[in-house]
Amino acid sequence: MSENASDVLAAVGTCPLHDINPMHPELLKRPWGLNKRLRDDAPVFQDPGSGIFFISRYEDVVKMAMDPATFSSKMLQPTRAMDGSKDPELSAILAEGYPQVPTMLTQDPPLQRRYRKFVDGAFSPSSLRALEPFIEATANALIDDFIEAGRCDFLSDFGVPLPLRVIVSQLGAPMEDLALFRKWTEAFIGNLSQQLDREGVRAAARDIVEFQHYFAARIEERRAAPEDDILSKVVNASIDGEQPLSIEECLSMIGQILVAGNETTSGSITEGILLLIENPDQYALLKSDPSPEMISNFVEEVLRFSSPSSNMFRRAVKEVEWHGVTIPKDAILFARFASANQDERRFPDPERFDITRPNLKEQVAFGKGVHHCLGAALSRREMNIGFKVIFERLTNFRLAEGGAKPEFAANALLHGLHGLDVEFDAI
Ligand code: HEM
Repeated sequence: MSENASDVLAAVGTCPLHDINPMHPELLKRPWGLNKRLRDDAPVFQDPGSGIFFISRYEDVVKMAMDPATFSSKMLQPTRAMDGSKDPELSAILAEGYPQVPTMLTQDPPLQRRYRKFVDGAFSPSSLRALEPFIEATANALIDDFIEAGRCDFLSDFGVPLPLRVIVSQLGAPMEDLALFRKWTEAFIGNLSQQLDREGVRAAARDIVEFQHYFAARIEERRAAPEDDILSKVVNASIDGEQPLSIEECLSMIGQILVAGNETTSGSITEGILLLIENPDQYALLKSDPSPEMISNFVEEVLRFSSPSSNMFRRAVKEVEWHGVTIPKDAILFARFASANQDERRFPDPERFDITRPNLKEQVAFGKGVHHCLGAALSRREMNIGFKVIFERLTNFRLAEGGAKPEFAANALLHGLHGLDVEFDAI
């Protein structure tokens, strides 16, 4: 198959499935055609390159997420990218850090439930309610910085800093360290992207080790002197007389909260603005009724459409027969949440962005079952409050003249825009 971007996309509809490389950067950026083809013709499909089995229909993705006994999440390095045994230099870098242990996202019940109990309090409705004024003040402060210019890169000026500032404040770190958090998030994401070369993997490992040492120090501080933040709640949680979490366990959980909590929410908020620009009828509907209910519907449809956590790994605990395909024991699978959210069997006319869709709450951007997103309620609050403030202060979003064309990043697990140059009018 030709490597040219438009040829790769065009071939998806016509060429034999086994000639398609689903990890091709162009298909990672624009996976919609491939996803439809897979849902229709090969709902269980083994990628010949990576050997990973892709599960693409809504019903199947949900079934998989609800059956952790068959489809395990337990793995340390699902992408194998950061495997020190194959690279002595990488191994030396990792030896400077803390050993990685599987916790929530990379663990199965009952242990996974144990870890969730330690953080549940930090994400309880009352903890999140207390955060609302901070989210609203942050959204306003960010808009203050660019409103007069009449244009911005919505991703780096709003989409990224809103959830980043919230999570930095909740992980008990000073705002001066924002740039470090951004760097560490990128290192984690780069490692997951499956697109790094050997040097890139080593650089990401160096950053992750730096992250570990930074937080090991913060954990000790919060153990000695707890404050009113998520970090203090996690490191000091005591459940039914159990031992508190070890430093390694805390680091694993903080790493997950940092990555899962940043890139995903940033991606959805930013894509929400692009979706308004691309769908003027829906934008008009929202302008005519910016009520909390309408904004909440808009947020759900943005989540369905953007599905930033597009694929998640599972491992088959035993051999499984599915849609005529034999999945061997220990095979790696992708639960394709983004494809599930576009499944015409569940969402009629799925490519239509429709904030009045009757079943928009059935979207599975946050997953399903035991691993259902820990930060779903926080993320929904950030998006609902963020958009409320945006609609109060800015209107008539349009792509900026002379700005970069909106482009998605190539990443096997996370889907999101590189940037979004927009113009707007101040209200
Ligand atoms: C739009 C925003 C978000 C999306 C689309 C999203 C998506 C997801 C998905 C699909 C899962 C399930 C993974 C699986 O089944 O393997 C998940 C789990 C998780 N998410 Fe999120 N997430 C978002 C925001 C957040 C935030 C804000 C946080 C934390 C502050 C967070 C923390 C986590 C954690 C820790 C897990 C693992 C839970 C477990 O395995 O028990 N996420 N997320």
